[in-house]
Amino acid sequence: MCDFAIFRLKKKSLFFLFAFGSFLASAEVQASDPANGNKLYMQHCNSCHEQGREMPGAPDFNNRSTLMQSDLTLLDKIRTGKNAMPGYAGILSDRMILDIIAYMRTF
Ligand code: HEC
Repeated sequence: MCDFAIFRLKKKSLFFLFAFGSFLASAEVQASDPANGNKLYMQHCNSCHEQGREMPGAPDFNNRSTLMQSDLTLLDKIRTGKNAMPGYAGILSDRMILDIIAYMRTF
């Protein structure tokens, strides 16, 4: 009887370990990938936003005031575009744009 109770306890903790492990694993899948963002930035953004050689009117991301906005605000602006800045909805997925934002936060 006593052994059985211990067995149940172990099974339960194994389950929690598994559940927690899966939670961690899924959190990892969700995390932004700045290395992928770097690649995408070079492909899609660098022509206008090259550091130190920004096109006239484009913000300098080294001047951090531009990046003092939440990821979701930036995501929305990059999706929509603004004046000479093209919108990227339908070109880049939200996931890709969030990777780019994670990369821009390394400037
Ligand atoms: C054709 C040139 C061009 C390309 C390509 C471009 N941008 Fe821009 N971007 C601009 C210009 C110009 C502005 C300034 C817009 C304004 O304020 O009038 C801007 C503004 C921004 C801003 C600031 C928005 C704000 O007002 O807070 C962000 C963030 C940004 N761009 C990100 C990106 C990202 C990320 C990419 C690539 C996916 C990209 N841009 C591609 C020209 C470009």
